[in-house]
Amino acid sequence: MSQINYDELSFDDEDEMKYPRAHRQEFDDVVDRAISRRGFLGGALAFGSGAAVMGTGLLSGTSAQAQQASRFAFEQLAPQTDGTVHVPGGYEWDVLVRWGDPLFSDAPAFDASTGIPTAGSDRVFGENTDGMELFLVGDTELLVVNSEYVNGKINLPPDQEGQPASADDVTRLQNFQGVTVMEVAEGDDGWEVVVDSPYNRRIHHRTPMQIEGPAAGHDLLKTSADPSGTASLGTFNNCGSGRTPWGTYLTCEENFNGYFGTTADLSLDETTAAGFSRYGVSMEVDPGRYNYHGFDPRFDLSKEPNEPHRAGYIVEIDPADPASTPIKRTALGRFKHENAASVVAPDGRVVVYMGDDERGEYMYKWVSRDTYTPGGDTSTLLSEGQLFVAKFNDDMTGTWIALTPEDTGMSEAEIAVFTRIAATEVSATTMDRPEWIAVNPTAAEAYCCLTNNSRRGDKNEDGSIKTNAAGEPMVVNAPNPREINRYGQIVRWRPHNGDHAAATFEWDLYVMAGNPTVYSEGLYAGTANINAGNLFNSPDGMQFDSSGLVWIQTDGNDDNEGDFLGMGNNQMLAGDPVTGEIRRFMTGPNGSEVTGLTWSADKRTMFVGIQHPAAPFPDGEGALPRSSIVTVKRTDNALVG
Ligand code: FEO
Ligand code: CA
Ligand code: CA
Ligand code: CA
Repeated sequence: MSQINYDELSFDDEDEMKYPRAHRQEFDDVVDRAISRRGFLGGALAFGSGAAVMGTGLLSGTSAQAQQASRFAFEQLAPQTDGTVHVPGGYEWDVLVRWGDPLFSDAPAFDASTGIPTAGSDRVFGENTDGMELFLVGDTELLVVNSEYVNGKINLPPDQEGQPASADDVTRLQNFQGVTVMEVAEGDDGWEVVVDSPYNRRIHHRTPMQIEGPAAGHDLLKTSADPSGTASLGTFNNCGSGRTPWGTYLTCEENFNGYFGTTADLSLDETTAAGFSRYGVSMEVDPGRYNYHGFDPRFDLSKEPNEPHRAGYIVEIDPADPASTPIKRTALGRFKHENAASVVAPDGRVVVYMGDDERGEYMYKWVSRDTYTPGGDTSTLLSEGQLFVAKFNDDMTGTWIALTPEDTGMSEAEIAVFTRIAATEVSATTMDRPEWIAVNPTAAEAYCCLTNNSRRGDKNEDGSIKTNAAGEPMVVNAPNPREINRYGQIVRWRPHNGDHAAATFEWDLYVMAGNPTVYSEGLYAGTANINAGNLFNSPDGMQFDSSGLVWIQTDGNDDNEGDFLGMGNNQMLAGDPVTGEIRRFMTGPNGSEVTGLTWSADKRTMFVGIQHPAAPFPDGEGALPRSSIVTVKRTDNALVG
């Protein structure tokens, strides 16, 4: 049995612990980058014509902010440290659904101390809610929600220390993860899940998937159960979300590596071993976080070394058709996908922005070959096109570099499966853990949360700079300017000519989170739009509302002490892209991450996810903690988005 308490270990800390990266001497780069920070400041000033628009980056003072009336309809909420949800005056919240609540009337009842048994565990709402989107199908509102991972300790008997002891245990864990499609409706008692709706559906770790795009059918994807390499089972570690213009849901497979392991020493070919190393797939005989491989040979690398090549993708789901087979879109690359932010370029091509959430990994963009027309053929839009990776220059310009066979020396299929390796070949910019990307619907710009990076600029004992998984030293660079970045920042970019399909962009930092009450000056104080009233760390989830306000959700340190004093629990804030003003709107219960945001069709309700709360949220003393989706409304039922 593993001695590691996985319920207390984040995925990035697990990576750091299990997969230490190589050292490399790069003293000169540190000096270069320190100089470049001055260039960045100069660039920010130059970039600030129409100052209110792009001026909040690292400029001191935002006079535009003081002069303009606030666009927020609420007073700032104070930081909170207790075990429940808070919203500002004039708003109210309610629980819509908790992990284990029934989707079907034949679902087993939730036991407050033991949860849900295996039989029927695929008939309830999954655990650890994350990205979500609401779709209007006719008059029916369908909420589609990711269940990112499971907390083994609260799903399995206490004496098992969070580890499965049987195939039955594994099945239960598999059933609680994946994606839920559920009809929701607002009645006299608020919003409820419509139990037994014909649209209700659980997609989990054994649901049949179609593999499509350049990697489909490649030898790297063939297994003993699927010699065609085109049909896999399950979608894994479904983190952030996205939606296509044609009304399908995109679920994003993030820390898929943790589901695979081996029961025997491995002898792997060079390509496979290099891929496992780059993606953090464990090659040691060890039960790991889930120990699926101990009971389900499909996850045992000594038997099925290609199975991990079938995870780590963007998966498209049609919520309107409960019988549809989800499609793994390999053209959009394989990495630790956070979310997928789609936008239609002026000429009709579909652009999808994507982040790879690991320290020192990259930001990506897909551009379709064909154009989108409402009601037209959309079948090629996520399979025929070009994948790019971002290069940020210190002069506040940037380039999308195409990942082509010519420039990477890899085939189209290899680029799709080992996308990280292809991106390193073209010298992409290492980022501080790209989490959600969001596209402003009211201006041609997009934002990415760079949540934190404890290794950025940090040194090993021999003085060398710590590296990413590719062995690239993570020296500070302009969009990631802080060593040992505990707070995170949000980078934004404006595509050339307002065209998201363009190859170049200009960028700045919308905000660097920080703590000016602890650090009176310097980069740890944060940008000018951070003040004692709106402190937060580790921006992660992000969505724009239809009015062009950006909603920022956090997944960070909620100790409320030291560097994090005054920040309180994880939270959701609203940002004004024009003035730079940021205001705290909502706080989650302690222990939780606030993640996932979408709106009802009438924009009078926000749906907000509360992931991994501490006990006993929301059911009270003695009950298991339950990740939940809450609704937030104005008490006057006015618009909220
Ligand atoms: Fe699942 Fe990067 O958050
Ligand atoms: Ca996240
Ligand atoms: Ca996170
Ligand atoms: Ca999470």
